Amino acid sequence: MAQKSFSLATRVKLSNGLSMPQIHLGVYLTSGNETVQAVKSALEAGYRAIDSAQMYHNEREVGRAIAAFLSSEADTSGLTREDVHFTTKLASNTSYNATRQSIKKSLYACGLGYIDLFLLHSPYGGKKARLECWKAVEDAIDDGEIRSGGVSNYGVKHLQELINSEPRIMPTVNQIEVHPFNTRTDITHFCAQNGIIVEAYAPLTRALRMKHPKIVSLSKKYNCTPAQLLVRWSLQHGYVPLPKSVKRQRIIENADIDGFEIDEEDMKALDNLDENLVTDWDPTDCP
Ligand SMILES: NC(=O)c1ccc[n+]([C@@H]2O[C@H](COP(=O)([O-])OP(=O)(O)OC[C@H]3O[C@@H](n4cnc5c(N)ncnc54)[C@H](OP(=O)(O)O)[C@@H]3O)[C@@H](O)[C@H]2O)c1
Repeated sequence: MAQKSFSLATRVKLSNGLSMPQIHLGVYLTSGNETVQAVKSALEAGYRAIDSAQMYHNEREVGRAIAAFLSSEADTSGLTREDVHFTTKLASNTSYNATRQSIKKSLYACGLGYIDLFLLHSPYGGKKARLECWKAVEDAIDDGEIRSGGVSNYGVKHLQELINSEPRIMPTVNQIEVHPFNTRTDITHFCAQNGIIVEAYAPLTRALRMKHPKIVSLSKKYNCTPAQLLVRWSLQHGYVPLPKSVKRQRIIENADIDGFEIDEEDMKALDNLDENLVTDWDPTDCP
C-alpha cells in the first residue's frame, strides 16, 4: 500500500464544506514577543494555522505576526489572509450577549477581519450557558465574524446535549487532549460517528513522555525524533495535532513528518500506551 503522505500543506475537510490545515502551531503559554517570533518562524517554515485562545492573552500578537508575515518579503509565495487559518476560543461560557461581545473583542484584538475557527474552550458553565453560547457562535458565523465553529474539552455527554438541541449549525471540531498516553477513544469514536474533527491538543504530551522506552525505540526504528513520532501518530489517526514550541528548530522539526509511516502494529502498540495522562486540565466530565 502506498505511504500516506502528510505535510504542512495537507488539509482536512470540515462538515460545513470548508477545509483547514491538518497541522496547527499551538501558542498556549507563549506571551508577548515570544508569540510573535514563534508565529513568524512557523509561517516561514510553512505552517498555515495557529491555535490561540482568549485565555492565552496572545490573540493580538498572533494577529500582528500573521499580518506582518503577509506583508513581508518572507511571504515568497504571495499568500493572503485567506491562506492562513486562525483559531481562538471563548474564555468562559456565560450568556448569549456576553459571548457575542467577546467574539467581537477577539476579532478586534487579532485584527484579521474574521476568525477562521472559534471554539467554546470548555463545557464549564452548565447546560443553559453552553447552549446559549453556541447560539452566539452560530449568529457570529451568520454575521461573517467567524467562518467555522467548534467546541473544546467536550465529553460525549456535552456533544450529545448539543446535538439533541438540534443546532442550526453543527460544531465542526472538538479540541481535546489526545496522544498515545491519553487516547480518549470514547470521545474520538463519537466524533468520528458524528462528522466532528478531533483536534489533538498536547500532541507532544507536553514533553512529559519523550523518554518513554517505547517512544525512544520506535523513534530509532523510524529514524525520527520522539516529537515527530507523536505528531505522525496523530495525523495517521486523522486528528489535527497542535504541536507547540517557541523554538524555531523544534517548530521545523515537529512538522517534518513525511519521511516515514508508522505501521499498523506499531500504531496499535502506541495506542496501548494509554494511561489517561492529563497534562493540563480535564473538563470533559463536568456537569
Ligand atoms: N483546548 C484546550 O483546553 C487546550 C489545552 C492545552 C493545549 N491546547 C492547545 O494545544 C497546543 C499544544 O499543547 P501544549 O502546548 O500543552 O503541549 P505540547 O504541544 O504537547 O508540548 C509543548 C511542550 O513540548 C516542548 N517541545 C516542543 N517541541 C519539542 C521537541 N521537538 N522536542 C522536545 N520538546 C519539545 C515545548 O517546549 P518549547 O516551547 O520550549 O520548545 C513545550 O514545553 C497548545 O499550545 C494550545 O494551542 C489547548
